[in-house]
Amino acid sequence: SWTTGNVIEEQVAAIRAQVGDKRAICGLSGGVDSAVAAALVQKAIGSQLTCVYVDHGLMRKGETEQVEKDFVAATGANLVVVDAQERFLNALAGVSDPETKRKIIGREFIRVFEQAQLEILQEEGPEVAFLVQGTLYPDIVESGGGTGTANIKSHHNVGGLPEDIEFQLVEPLRQLFKDEVRMVGQELGLPEEIVQRQPFPGPGLGIRIVGEVTKERLDLLREADAIAREELTAAGLDREIWQCPVVLLADVRSVGVQGDGRTYGHPIVLRPVSSEDAMTADWSRLPYEVLAKISTRITNEVADVNRVVLDVTSKPPGTIEWE
Ligand code: XMP
Repeated sequence: SWTTGNVIEEQVAAIRAQVGDKRAICGLSGGVDSAVAAALVQKAIGSQLTCVYVDHGLMRKGETEQVEKDFVAATGANLVVVDAQERFLNALAGVSDPETKRKIIGREFIRVFEQAQLEILQEEGPEVAFLVQGTLYPDIVESGGGTGTANIKSHHNVGGLPEDIEFQLVEPLRQLFKDEVRMVGQELGLPEEIVQRQPFPGPGLGIRIVGEVTKERLDLLREADAIAREELTAAGLDREIWQCPVVLLADVRSVGVQGDGRTYGHPIVLRPVSSEDAMTADWSRLPYEVLAKISTRITNEVADVNRVVLDVTSKPPGTIEWE
């Protein structure tokens, strides 16, 4: 019968048989799938695994720390964190077009990840020949669920490496659905924040700033997003909401009045949706008190934001993200 215990036991045995005494690398994205895949492989081969986390600076508040501290504490995994924030900001400078942003973020991500792989290979010898990926059953059955350009799932042949080294994939979640992955993650002792994380796009906050991405705008959006998440969690709405993008309209300015005078700031959009699979979605009818609290806090606590607006569009015609 299907139990998380059986799945873990089977996968641990399969991973050991596949990897033997060789070494493996796993890229962590901050999401559920890569974390659970890494935790399973860690359980199977321990210190033969090296995890890599590319910090592109486009994550939400606390997410990088979750990987650096909580994931490592829960699994004991070897983790290499690459601070690439400057590099991503430089690459994104002056860019407003959403698809161009996606391409740049995806491209830089792969370059940074490959460079990290190369360094690990040079350090540990070319017997690092396994690449762990959090591919799920639905990814195999029909690829194209997400538009993930910054997603290394579709990236199998690693360039820039000595030609005779080819990574073999380790995909311990291949037979699982998302809810099963969460159960396995929980059983493996991963933190709740990682296991129950709502969907979050690979390009991160980079596609939630309408306009150019800058450090100041990212910091501002991180604050607004953290407030929205805090209040939604406090109201017990996490399970009801599929995800809630918080979007900064950086290219739009709105007039407000705060304290003694007139302000000329930016609107923040709340986009809470309910959905089964992100293919279609409906806007969530959140309680007014919760919306009021979020709005008051964001306008009080986040400098340069003088307006909070609610997106009441279903998908279709609106996508879940604004970009
Ligand atoms: P849309 O905005 O197309 O989003 O309704 C559907 C789902 O996909 C996520 N999304 C992305 N995920 N890379 C990703 O990994 C992307 O470029 C991307 N764009 C959208 C979105 O958050 C939602 O869950």
